Amino acid sequence: MRKPKVCRMILATCVGSFIVVVFYFQTSLKPAAEQGSGQADWQGKSGRSPLQTLYEGDQLDPSAAQVTHQGRRQILEDACRTYTRKRRVLIPEDLKHLIVDDQHRLLYCYVPKVACTNWKRVLMVLTGDGRYRDPLKIPANEAHVAGNLRTLSEYSTAEINHRLRTYLKFVFVREPFERLVSAYRNKFTRSYNTAFHKRYGTKIIRKHRPNPRPEALDRGNDVSFEEFVYYLVDPHTQREEPFNEHWERVHSLCHPCLIHYDVVGKYETLDQDSRYVLQLAGAEAEVRFPTSAKSARTTGDMAAQFFHNISPFYQKKLYNLYKMDFLLFNYSTPDYLKFR
Ligand SMILES: *[C@@H]1O[C@H](CO)[C@@H](O)[C@H](O)[C@H]1NC(C)=O
Repeated sequence: MRKPKVCRMILATCVGSFIVVVFYFQTSLKPAAEQGSGQADWQGKSGRSPLQTLYEGDQLDPSAAQVTHQGRRQILEDACRTYTRKRRVLIPEDLKHLIVDDQHRLLYCYVPKVACTNWKRVLMVLTGDGRYRDPLKIPANEAHVAGNLRTLSEYSTAEINHRLRTYLKFVFVREPFERLVSAYRNKFTRSYNTAFHKRYGTKIIRKHRPNPRPEALDRGNDVSFEEFVYYLVDPHTQREEPFNEHWERVHSLCHPCLIHYDVVGKYETLDQDSRYVLQLAGAEAEVRFPTSAKSARTTGDMAAQFFHNISPFYQKKLYNLYKMDFLLFNYSTPDYLKFR
């Protein structure tokens, strides 16, 4: 059992380091300075790439948005330096969540439960050569079909490196526990999500509920938040397989300490931050980011209610699990936690 796994890992590592990636100069990269002389492959429709637009913005009189995003990049960089160990090399597997828009020179790392359906729809409009106009006319399930959008892992090494160096890289993040509660509510409390109930619910109930009823074991459709937490903090869970992307940490999905994101958008300021990205991309005339109904959203108060039943011991374990996402993206430890 063990040996082939180790071999596979070694093989993957070798292949990975062969394939990728010149990363180390990323942090020192000052695109404005490097690209000042206007290399041919940089000229987009407007003559400037979004990355140039971002870093060549008037540095003497930066806009409020520029200041905000500079601050977020700084916090991210400092937290990476403080809390992560030696840098490793990226492998194509790490790039599966990065969606590529070659027309506008954008790389978007999608994080489920952080407006990713709408961002995928917008990118389908932007990369669709006129096939789509209104993002909201694209059915949600179509936005998630693999193959409708290209991910960076599908490109060759040279193409990957070129895009990482010259495209505007952005990600949208959210308060980690609000995102987690949102994932729980969506995947475990909605009767239509039978695939998640079967795939994860039955397993969670089998392992984390004493004396489950046969019906619950069979359907997996009544997982409590408490049981979900036990599942998440159980070390066996991640040894068996990686977390599902809906509850996997942004740190593991998007590798923000290896990939130097130019814009860190936040769900809390979704409309502004989305507009900022589209503005940098020169795409404001092509598409508008859909404004979503706020009523159904998971909020901090709602998260507090879900955590009410969780013992301080498990709250602490869960916090530790998601700690990097709190630190990297400047989210403070929620007041409702009892271990503080
Ligand atoms: C980080 O979070 C603190 C507290 O919420 C806030 O005051 C500060 O402005 C944030 N910093 C940045 C750069 O977003």
